[in-house]
Amino acid sequence: MRYLLFAAAAGSVVAAAVYAVSFSGRGPVSAQDFVNLQQGAQVQAGFRRAHAKGFCISGEFQSSGALAQYSSAQVLQSGSYPFVGRISIAGNNPSAPDLKAPVRSLALTILPDSPQQWRTAMNTPPVLAVATPEKFYQQLLAIQNSTVPEFFAAHPEAQNFINWRNSYQPSQSFATERYHSINAFYLVDTQGQQQAVRWAAVPLTNETGQLADAEATDALQQEFFSRLQQGPVRFDLQFTLATASDNPADATIPWPETNPQLSAGTIVIEQASLQDTGACNAINFDPLVLPAGFAPSDDPILRARAAVYAESHRRRAREVLMQQTTGGANE
Ligand code: HEM
Repeated sequence: MRYLLFAAAAGSVVAAAVYAVSFSGRGPVSAQDFVNLQQGAQVQAGFRRAHAKGFCISGEFQSSGALAQYSSAQVLQSGSYPFVGRISIAGNNPSAPDLKAPVRSLALTILPDSPQQWRTAMNTPPVLAVATPEKFYQQLLAIQNSTVPEFFAAHPEAQNFINWRNSYQPSQSFATERYHSINAFYLVDTQGQQQAVRWAAVPLTNETGQLADAEATDALQQEFFSRLQQGPVRFDLQFTLATASDNPADATIPWPETNPQLSAGTIVIEQASLQDTGACNAINFDPLVLPAGFAPSDDPILRARAAVYAESHRRRAREVLMQQTTGGANE
């Protein structure tokens, strides 16, 4: 019954209004609520419930060691560390057109075979529109119901996000976008001292992309694969340090550009492969899979992300397993 209500909410304003009433009487939003809403009425079995369209990448992170004074993490000590990653677009449709997506993403698992691995999932916006999982859920409902202007009018904290969205010009390549951690984390040094940070992958090329076929749903994927044939794609991993006036628990507020910035090193993407055969597909890019030397901030959205990604991963992993063992007969 509950599921039917969720499924209906994805399709109509009236059903969503009914849902909102029952939702507000039921307490906090759950991971299942999020995934039910994000996957929509037509489940794409075996795919991520968000960021369903993407491809795998791999390469190495050449750490400068500039952050080593703030963190004991191996990945931040000077050296080269392999990574498996994924480039994606937001949404639940695994065949959505690349160029229509409002958000592009870069996810990395650095040192994937080590207990010291670091997972991060970054998006193009530098801030979120709202600061809590409950409001984020209401924002997703507003997107589905085409009531975003009303939602933003009721949430003045969305202004920084709106300013970014109004100034953002999507590029012709995944290689020339800037990807942000958005949420803050702590770096922890060998003495246990904490420093709040955010980070961003900043492109090291401004060569605009040549789209072989701008009408193709895979236009940006094609551009990236052919760009890689000319050589690696590089990003600078820039950390911004919080000062005493920044609130690490609120991802709606940008930190001043005058804050200290340090380059942690270079992300060198060497290879790309289709996601169904690639090493990234089975990875849950949970932002709370952190090595010693990193810790989560108090941002409540970080905890929500960990729970929601796990639920999405559980569903798609089960579907893949059922497909392999029964050909999907018991689904
Ligand atoms: C409450 C807020 C959020 C919710 C409910 C949410 C939900 C999800 C879900 C369900 C997935 C699919 C996970 C999987 O099956 O592996 C996902 C993937 C992803 N999310 Fe979020 N997300 C949230 C906030 C964010 C934020 C703030 C960022 C960026 C900083 C972000 C970046 C990503 C990326 C890059 C992926 C794709 C990772 C991959 O390539 O596998 N998400 N999100």
